[in-house]
Amino acid sequence: MKVGVVGAGTMGRGIGQIFAQSGHDVIIIDVSPEALNFARKDIKNSLERLLKKDKIKEAPETILGRIEFLGDIESLKSCAIVIEAVFERIDIKKDTLAKISSFVSEDAVIGSNTSSISIDVLSRSVKRPERFLGIHFFNPVPVMSLVEIVPSEATSREILETTTELLKSVGKDPVFSKNFPGFISNRILMPMIREAILTYEQGIASPSDIDKTFMLGMNHPMGPLKLADFIGLDVCYDIMEVLYRDFGNPSFKPPITLKNLVDSGKLGVKSGRGFYNYKVKKE
Ligand SMILES: NC(=O)c1ccc[n+]([C@@H]2O[C@H](COP(=O)([O-])OP(=O)(O)OC[C@H]3O[C@@H](n4cnc5c(N)ncnc54)[C@H](O)[C@@H]3O)[C@@H](O)[C@H]2O)c1
Repeated sequence: MKVGVVGAGTMGRGIGQIFAQSGHDVIIIDVSPEALNFARKDIKNSLERLLKKDKIKEAPETILGRIEFLGDIESLKSCAIVIEAVFERIDIKKDTLAKISSFVSEDAVIGSNTSSISIDVLSRSVKRPERFLGIHFFNPVPVMSLVEIVPSEATSREILETTTELLKSVGKDPVFSKNFPGFISNRILMPMIREAILTYEQGIASPSDIDKTFMLGMNHPMGPLKLADFIGLDVCYDIMEVLYRDFGNPSFKPPITLKNLVDSGKLGVKSGRGFYNYKVKKE
């Protein structure tokens, strides 16, 4: 089966990788040639790490050989399923989904990896809403087994069932959410990250003490500010904007510190600076 992924960022790379690991042919599309080049390198490194840990049996080159990195959405024609993983901006997603829908075959399934945007709203951009649903993976995709599956009002039962089976076949363990802002995960996670940022903004504690509180006190593997850096501060900002707008509740409003970090290009791990400093992988 051929799988298409649109967006070669943090999530798109991982989504493409897990399907290729399971033997599927994959096309990863991005408008940015740099993103595509980085995706190839990053997937290769990830596969080499997995081989060393004995988590995969095939050679990384063999798995990588199943993935094409392309710039043109038209190449998705032959895909049985296409997963959209572009920026968390409603207009960009609607436009991208409309383009995907105009090129794929009538029988293709289209999924969106949106973290928060209404699946009903997005479903209006595709030609066959009954073959469209939310498929929300978690970062890093090759490591995290969870996937949130979110049908729209129009998603057919058959598509829901076959997509669930496909996701299980590539090692994912699904939960199901109704279409509601932030679904299960981000509705609960984003207010925690927001409060952690406000706790720092108000001078109550340092980032490392805020994170230590959650690691040593609540047994979280990483604290909320480091997690925000891993998700991407721009992604967190965009998700909070959607939740704030859709719930109409100020307790989802993105803090000014988050906006300032994003405006100054401090996006977390991917840019090398966020609440902490990181070695930039892209260099
Ligand atoms: N980062 C996370 O932890 C996480 C987790 C789950 C879901 N998500 C969701 O996944 C989606 C992608 O997030 P990300 O973290 O991978 O973002 P990212 O910024 O790392 O990557 C987005 C990619 O999309 C590409 N892109 C933008 N417009 C495009 C277009 N029109 N056509 C093709 N490519 C395009 C960009 O060039 C970029 O490479 C978002 O909807 C986000 O909410 C993110």
